[in-house]
Amino acid sequence: MQKLAIQGGNSLRGDVRISGAKNAALPIMCASLLSADTLHLSNVPDLHDVVTMRKLLVQMGVNIVVREGELSLHGAQIDKLEAPYDMVKTMRASVLVLGPLIARFGEARVSLPGGCAIGSRPVDQHIKGLQAMGAIISIEHGYIHAQVPQGGKLKGARIFFDIVSVTGTENLMMAATLAKGSTVLENAAREPEVVDLAHCLIAMGAKIAGAGSDTITITGVEKLHGASHRIMPDRIESGTFLVAAAATQGNIVLHDTRADILDTILEKLIEAGAHIRVGKDEIALSMQVALKSVNLRTAPYPAFPTDMQAQFMTLNTIAEGSAMMVETIFENRFMHVQELRRLGAQIDIEGNTALVRGTPKLEGATVMATDLRASASLVIAGLVAEGETIIDRIYHLDRGYERIEAKLSQLGANIRRIK
Ligand code: UD1
Repeated sequence: MQKLAIQGGNSLRGDVRISGAKNAALPIMCASLLSADTLHLSNVPDLHDVVTMRKLLVQMGVNIVVREGELSLHGAQIDKLEAPYDMVKTMRASVLVLGPLIARFGEARVSLPGGCAIGSRPVDQHIKGLQAMGAIISIEHGYIHAQVPQGGKLKGARIFFDIVSVTGTENLMMAATLAKGSTVLENAAREPEVVDLAHCLIAMGAKIAGAGSDTITITGVEKLHGASHRIMPDRIESGTFLVAAAATQGNIVLHDTRADILDTILEKLIEAGAHIRVGKDEIALSMQVALKSVNLRTAPYPAFPTDMQAQFMTLNTIAEGSAMMVETIFENRFMHVQELRRLGAQIDIEGNTALVRGTPKLEGATVMATDLRASASLVIAGLVAEGETIIDRIYHLDRGYERIEAKLSQLGANIRRIK
């Protein structure tokens, strides 16, 4: 199993290019199931989750041509309407094939995701929405089996999400593009990745209004056609590099990113003492004063993202003062705490709240990555800790960060992958 070895103490300095967004690429790849024509994607990040999604789509019959940073997906010969357990268990986003498959073929079988490291993460909202659109859903042998009666089409419906769900909104938005009549999604997720998916679907001929607000209206069309789409920049990768630079008293410039979708993250960094300058497709951060602790509470976009909670926790462990961090999205997303404590962090947890008391320094140790963003928080901790930090189980990191050690090395970090 691969590990990362980090010698802490170097400030991050220089320029780094931000990759395409994982959480936009995965649903947009699934949109290829909606059409028999070719969907051409650029700025696709080279990540383990993207490879897993490619394998899943190929298993279903999608023909995929891979070029550096680009994918051409051709969905003319889909012959297997199923996402098997071994794929869904390694990548929950596999559930995103459900909406497109049932919309175009009237049938789909997708394994139930089951528990995952950061919480139970049910898919009841996806199911409820498809049922409202006329799908008959049964759970058989751990699989969701969805069918439209008599091979007909889904029907437009008014659907209210009881809980804001990103992939739930994406699944139902894709399903509604080929339904008869109009669908209104209320209390929909407003995440920029939902908007990016909507842009791609619109380029494919879908009629969608309101993506980015909490009410999305989709008017079904007979069929979708091919299109070309560039995947938006990854806001979580952007945020992670900015936090790493702030934590190491660094000075970096991110390129190919977007400041307008990072508002709450930039505000919190400024509150922590960072100086931020925003340009076209660029964000520069320099840290010239002592770090200050920042309180935060995760919530759906545009509030503070749960995917940045762990990284900010590391920042708070070495900042002046104490901070209260409340996690409202996932019930078990503090697994990095035990590992950060091994480096000397002072963190108490009560329910979904962590109280972090800043300490002057962390000390290198061997730690274990538990999930994707937890791994990122440990990398940042390794960059600031005294001595060497070894991070085990970094396959989590490879799921969502493109060439992270190469990018950090380029910024001056002393980091290497060991096998
Ligand atoms: C997406 C992101 C993930 C991010 C999360 C929250 C992708 C591929 N993944 O995950 O990186 O951390 O949004 O921003 O885009 N829930 C239900 N029933 C449902 C669906 C969700 O109860 O049917 C709950 C979940 O358990 C969770 C909350 O709703 O507590 C939000 O989950 P959701 O937005 O669906 O997360 P994902 O789309 O899986």
